[in-house]
Amino acid sequence: MSDLEQLVEQARQDFAAAASPALLEQAKARYLGKSGSITAELKGLAALAPEEKKEAGGRINRAKQSIEAALEARRAELRKAELDRQLAATAIDVTLPGRQRQTGGLHPVSRAQERIEDLFRSVGFTVADGPEIESDWYNFTALNMPDNHPARSMHDTFYLQGRDDVLLRTHTSPVQIRAMQAHVARYGTENMPDLRIIAPGRTYRVDWDATHSPMFHQLEGMWIGEKVSMADLKGLYTHFLRRFFETDELEVRFRPSFFPFTEPSAEIDMAFLTGKHKGKWLEISGCGMMHPNVLAFGGIDPERYTGFAFGSGLERLAMLLYGIDDIRLFFENDLRFLSQFR
Ligand code: FA5
Ligand code: MG
Repeated sequence: MSDLEQLVEQARQDFAAAASPALLEQAKARYLGKSGSITAELKGLAALAPEEKKEAGGRINRAKQSIEAALEARRAELRKAELDRQLAATAIDVTLPGRQRQTGGLHPVSRAQERIEDLFRSVGFTVADGPEIESDWYNFTALNMPDNHPARSMHDTFYLQGRDDVLLRTHTSPVQIRAMQAHVARYGTENMPDLRIIAPGRTYRVDWDATHSPMFHQLEGMWIGEKVSMADLKGLYTHFLRRFFETDELEVRFRPSFFPFTEPSAEIDMAFLTGKHKGKWLEISGCGMMHPNVLAFGGIDPERYTGFAFGSGLERLAMLLYGIDDIRLFFENDLRFLSQFR
């Protein structure tokens, strides 16, 4: 290989080794710069005889062109590498899965409540509500439990510090009184249409075990009209349970009981005729015909109107529906439990 061919080969290797445009320009200077090797060769021509000059000049120029071509090729290579790098840095990989958005879900008690609201709306009931911080009068007195009535002690009540006129409602029954008052205010008592409500909501008692929670939900129901009877209650509630559990394979039993605000009073028990809990009676609700005093407290004439009411434990119903055996699971907010109901 001639000196010039070696020079060209050396330049190619130098250019290939230059990892950046700046290093490449430095390498270029070593061959084509003012004191570069090719420049030196060209300067050397001056010392040659005229006949040698032409031939040597041609060789040097071809070498120079080869080096310039190698330089340009390497420049293009480096530009492309830089472009690729920038593209990669800002690239969006459309094949990556999107950022996951966690979907929440309704709490099982809320689901049960919505289901119940739909069922009762479909048979002409409206959904009523009342405050959770309730007055002593609505929670007890107007429900036929005057001051010092022994039945008050059946509810382990949360009172508010420094107040004896308000408490955390121990049941949803105060909504009975509020709904009657609102109904009478709206329609008067002369030609009052039937009053049919359910009132699901939070209630509070000093209780904490596998079937009792300090905060729980009740489902109040009430129907007042001119000839409402216990038979209507039995028919309605049985229908409700069959729709709620989506089976006719269950039995309902009304067992005599006592509540100050109903007379007669009963507990509603139910048992499945098939499945895991077959034949096991479970108490799910209190109920009864509304006491005349309670109708009167609500502003309704007990001589003309009768009504029934019931108060069911919502968690109880949800536990049976979903097969849950400890009420505390509802309130521990463990996502492993809650996510099963999404
Ligand atoms: C009452 O609270 C009455 N107000 C029900 C009623 C309404 C009777 C209308 C007649 C007419 P009782 O204290 O039994 O009744 O409670 C009703 C239901 O609430 C119970 O059957 C039970 O399912 C549920 N319950 C009561 N205490 C708790 C608690 N601490 N945790 C969860 N559920 C409870
Ligand atoms: Mg009870």
